[in-house]
Amino acid sequence: MTESDFIPSGDYQVLPAGSVSYQSPSNIALVKYWGKYGEQLPQNPSISFTLSNCHTTTTLSYKKNSNSSGEIPFEIYLDGEAAPDFKPKIAKFFERIAIYMPFVKEYEYKIETSNSFPHSSGIASSASGMSALALCLMEMERGMEVAMTDTFFNEKASFLARLGSGSACRSIEGPLVVWGKHAEIEGSTNFYGTSYEGEIHEKFHNYQDTILLVDKGEKQVSSTVGHDLMHGHAFAKARFTQAHENLSSLMQVFKQGDVDQFIKIVESEALTLHAMMMTSHPYFILMKPKTLEIINEIWAYRNETSSKICFTLDAGANVHVLYPENEKESVQKFIASELSKFCQNSHYIDDCVGNGAKKL
Ligand code: PMV
Repeated sequence: MTESDFIPSGDYQVLPAGSVSYQSPSNIALVKYWGKYGEQLPQNPSISFTLSNCHTTTTLSYKKNSNSSGEIPFEIYLDGEAAPDFKPKIAKFFERIAIYMPFVKEYEYKIETSNSFPHSSGIASSASGMSALALCLMEMERGMEVAMTDTFFNEKASFLARLGSGSACRSIEGPLVVWGKHAEIEGSTNFYGTSYEGEIHEKFHNYQDTILLVDKGEKQVSSTVGHDLMHGHAFAKARFTQAHENLSSLMQVFKQGDVDQFIKIVESEALTLHAMMMTSHPYFILMKPKTLEIINEIWAYRNETSSKICFTLDAGANVHVLYPENEKESVQKFIASELSKFCQNSHYIDDCVGNGAKKL
């Protein structure tokens, strides 16, 4: 499927006023997406664990709008309060998707959204938020008696979510989602995320992710700016090649249950992501001193015990601590006693791998 396959050809049936709700999760990349081209297309393939407890719930209420020219009218609320800060991003999203969903212009909307994680936690709500909204819109499209398979529904939801926020396209399904064309993964594409269908050893079932909230503040440099700085970056070409190789290696790791190799790839990916930021022009650092203290504690714990604990990072200071389910008790004890002190207000969130978004 390419872009043109998502442009509908027939007429839509008019929907009366109504509403639809979805709960959509966050995701954490193991091989990172950093660098894009065109309309939110990735420079390299990525793969992520879909999360479970960190999610956004969105209710989209819609009503036919008599004046269908110009800007799409909508209101947005976060936890019941008007959230005007979100308006520009959503307005841009509507603008971008209008060609693939011409009916969006004919309605007015009320978007009510809430996150399971605190708003100012430093956890990006764009992946879960944009995927939840894309799914609600797809449900409208399905309600207009447009015949579609579940596969098409998920692919187009992911395609639309990508136009809102790149990594959001990996939040529709689970437990592992690939986004970006990779030679060894059939069906992989730059246009949307697809559920990883390769063999996954039981050691990776129900993997745990505890998110340590090191810095809940606003990031100094947005992902959009960071992605842009990969254009003309001295190491960009090597980095994009490396991501392809790391994804190939991870496929073997998932098949063989090689957790030691998993640790090497995942930690290296996290540090490479931040190395790209530190070697951009202008350069920037999103890790904080406590991020590094946590990494050192994790390494020390791994050396002292036979634990398979490891870390990954997203574009911020928070640390995702990854560990197999059979270590849940011991690692969570370690986190509570040794790592929570590095978190702002000792705040962290226990999460685990999940299966994707749900209609409510
Ligand atoms: O989806 P964006 O544009 O916010 O980019 C997210 C990029 C990383 O989180 C750093 C990596 C990834 O693959 O999710």
